[in-house]
Amino acid sequence: MTAAPVTIAAFAGSLRKGSYNQMLLRNTPSLAPAGVTVAPIDISGIPLFNQDMEEPPPPPVARMREAIKAADALLIITPEYNWSMSGVTKNVVDWASRPPDDSCLNDKCVGLAGCSRGYFGTARAKIALLPCFVFTGMHVLDDPMVHVAHEENAFDETGLLTDERVKSDMQELLTNLAAFARRMKRP
Ligand SMILES: Cc1cc2nc3c(=O)[nH]c(=O)nc-3n(C[C@H](O)[C@H](O)[C@H](O)COP(=O)(O)O)c2cc1C
Repeated sequence: MTAAPVTIAAFAGSLRKGSYNQMLLRNTPSLAPAGVTVAPIDISGIPLFNQDMEEPPPPPVARMREAIKAADALLIITPEYNWSMSGVTKNVVDWASRPPDDSCLNDKCVGLAGCSRGYFGTARAKIALLPCFVFTGMHVLDDPMVHVAHEENAFDETGLLTDERVKSDMQELLTNLAAFARRMKRP
């Protein structure tokens, strides 16, 4: 029997033009195994969270929520800022978590990747995200989480991912996240 197709919505929590995390996001669709589609979300128009702006939600927020709701799983590619996730990543999570009784995050499987300059490749940013996943009712894939240390060596000058270890880790992440989403899918 062929496995059910899986869609993974994905975003990267950096807004700067030369972002390595956005580079990794752009490389991700081509690394997906057969039957798995990665759908990148454009988060550039999402404003800072403001409870006064919740109703109606700003259009980029509504589009982001619909993309996550329609997907079987979510991939978050986050930078590490000050041993935590970037504010941009947290801002998207906060908008996505609302309204709490109909959040697009609830019951969603989530995988994690991230690029940093430092040696730990955003491991601490990922750990900092875990409480958000508990509170929002998400299911975290812990094997693998993809840590891209010394990000400046992982891509060529055109932004193509050239690091074979990272490529293979991302393929494993997408394969395992799809399998996890299939297992967790409610009838
Ligand atoms: C405010 C700030 C805090 C940072 N803190 C960390 C950190 O805690 N650990 C780390 O490895 N890199 C840290 N960095 C370096 C980032 O890993 C690096 O700038 C990375 O390229 C950011 O991701 P981007 O390329 O997707 O924008 C920090 C950078 C900034 C701007």
